[in-house]
Amino acid sequence: MSHERKVSRSPFVVLEDDTVDAQPPAIVMTDPKFVVNVASMIRNCAAFGVEWLFITGDRLDIPTGRKGDRMPRQERMREYRTVKVVQCDYPTMLFKRQDIAPIGVELVPGAVPLPMLEHPLNAVYLLGPEDGGLSKGFRAICHQIVQIPSLHCLNVAQAGGIILYDRMASLWRQGKGEILELDEDRGYDGNPRRRELVRK
Ligand SMILES: C[S@@+](CC[C@H](N)C(=O)[O-])C[C@H]1O[C@@H](n2cnc3c(N)ncnc32)[C@H](O)[C@@H]1O
Repeated sequence: MSHERKVSRSPFVVLEDDTVDAQPPAIVMTDPKFVVNVASMIRNCAAFGVEWLFITGDRLDIPTGRKGDRMPRQERMREYRTVKVVQCDYPTMLFKRQDIAPIGVELVPGAVPLPMLEHPLNAVYLLGPEDGGLSKGFRAICHQIVQIPSLHCLNVAQAGGIILYDRMASLWRQGKGEILELDEDRGYDGNPRRRELVRK
């Protein structure tokens, strides 16, 4: 089955589309094995306001959203509709602008520890599969490789979530981004401590 260019307008609907005009920031999951991790990554992207998620390889199909072919129940949220999921083997070619900054996320010697990374606005983060690592080919196109300091290797979706949280904090510290505010009704009116931080 060919996965040249498939985009889902909602995460549950996979469409063929030749008009992809991707914008950073974005996440690339290289050759993922488990749909539950793709679902968790969609959730990460939705939660941190990242619109583009690329999936390389053909080990799994993005659920179409039709009955019997949906995301795992625990991972279905309306807010996911902000995320465009594209299955494509050469995701960095789908960005019309040339100045994207591919960043590999991997535990390799010499990788920058995450707390030391100043995330660029135009970052595209590439992660490896559950049963392997980010391939040499993908590492070669990365401007830098970052590792999350940890005692053990993390689940790929957890790693993506940590990266996106750290991106938000890093951009805020650089004066280039905001601390996100909960965009759903939880029955209370925001966190006053957060408002204090945002004013600074
Ligand atoms: C479950 S790991 C891959 C398995 C691992 N290579 C092994 O041998 O057990 C899947 C992906 O998550 C990301 N990852 C997991 N832990 C990480 C960490 N501490 N720092 C950076 N990336 C991490 C990497 O992108 C990695 O390729």
